[in-house]
Amino acid sequence: MQNPEVRIYSGASPQQVAADLEPLIAFQEEGLSLEALNELLEERLLPHLMRYEQPEFQSMFNTIPEAGAEFGARIALSYNQGVTNWQVSPGGAMLEELCCQALCQLFELPATADATFMYCGTYANQQAIYLALHRKAEMCGFDFAERGLPGFPDPTRLVLLTSRDAHFSVRHAIRMLGLGEQSLVTLDVDRNRRIDIERMEETLAELKATKEVFCILATAGTTSTGSVDPILPIAKASQRMGAWLHVDGAYGLAYSLLPGWKPLFSGVELADSVSWDPHKQLGVPIPNSVLFVRRREDFQRMALHSDYFNREGMPEPNPGLKSPPSTRPFSALSLVASLRHQGMVKLMQRLGAPLAAIQEAADRLKSQADVELCHKPDTGILCFRITPQDFPEEELDRLQQFVYDRILAEGKRSLSLTRLDERAVLRLVAISPRVSCEALMQTVSNVRDLAAKYEATGR
Ligand SMILES: Cc1ncc(COP(=O)(O)O)c(C=O)c1O
Repeated sequence: MQNPEVRIYSGASPQQVAADLEPLIAFQEEGLSLEALNELLEERLLPHLMRYEQPEFQSMFNTIPEAGAEFGARIALSYNQGVTNWQVSPGGAMLEELCCQALCQLFELPATADATFMYCGTYANQQAIYLALHRKAEMCGFDFAERGLPGFPDPTRLVLLTSRDAHFSVRHAIRMLGLGEQSLVTLDVDRNRRIDIERMEETLAELKATKEVFCILATAGTTSTGSVDPILPIAKASQRMGAWLHVDGAYGLAYSLLPGWKPLFSGVELADSVSWDPHKQLGVPIPNSVLFVRRREDFQRMALHSDYFNREGMPEPNPGLKSPPSTRPFSALSLVASLRHQGMVKLMQRLGAPLAAIQEAADRLKSQADVELCHKPDTGILCFRITPQDFPEEELDRLQQFVYDRILAEGKRSLSLTRLDERAVLRLVAISPRVSCEALMQTVSNVRDLAAKYEATGR
């Protein structure tokens, strides 16, 4: 049962939150003692922060730190280590390198694989697409780092294929790399919102005469429904086309560690690059993201040397040669500390529990007449619509919005609202092991009550 005292956040409006926070930014000549500062923050800020540890938090990919992760993060913070170079942190740089190798083994990537820590999944995806362009340029006989897009005989021919449900970071990457959105081709999805392979093959055939596919991007756990694209056939198509295969596993890759889910990720070992966000379900502090590449020499395309830092030919570990930031947090320490503290058995339980909760909720809901399930969950997300009997179809979008707004404003639980095929749908996310099937079903029952209220008063 939900504790009636617990709110997952204040439920306050943006105006109320702004008014409460105003004193925090009244910078003054004299400073505050830490006690006074604590009081101010407790009163003004903390009620408005989201409580990810509550089982009623069912909307986003955030979690509070696991105990070992928090312990590691405290050490990283107290030393405030930057880790891109042996000179700034011998132990930090070495631990990051060793951790990257261990992660490649954990995910059973080829022996040639390597990894780097990144600020976030968005930048991991962007860097992967840069690498894809770089390799395409090599195939065309020039150095992309030097000549950029104008080196291609006709850059407007270059296209990247991905699911229509791919994360918007792919669109950001395409823009920031100077390709423009005209180079993004989105693929249709099947009933479970995975890339439809037959349609993909048709699209590839249609594009053949006019375009060059330099990259196919599969999502292993889409943001909206957690669906895992069929990586193996996509990998085969990429190989056939000479295209780079990037797997965006920012959300889902962790679940490939579970024996029951592993077959769903089959083919990930063939990807040229894979992104992963431990800061989603692993309970490690933000930021904590990783980019894997199948061949460690792929990272040489990122290497930039300078006279004071990252000098050429230095024999010591130099993780900063694998991605742009010259300062990055010591994310590897919280991840290592968390995995060592929990052990793999507990980690598997942590990952498996919310997936079981979502599957059970889906099983219970599929026979309920006033709930329309939008897909069969591959991982820890379930999208549905509340569809009361005889409710007018054209008003269903407004009903989902009403329910979502009310739940958010109550501050006692959260779920999210998204769109699938131009229709508003409600989205449940189980990311922390505390989200049980019961907690999910209570949210659905709350949704039902609000739908009844809408029918009685809202229209
Ligand atoms: C599938 C997927 N890719 C990429 C991202 C972006 O990751 P980040 O929020 O770490 O930038 C997300 C974020 O939710 C995601 O779900």
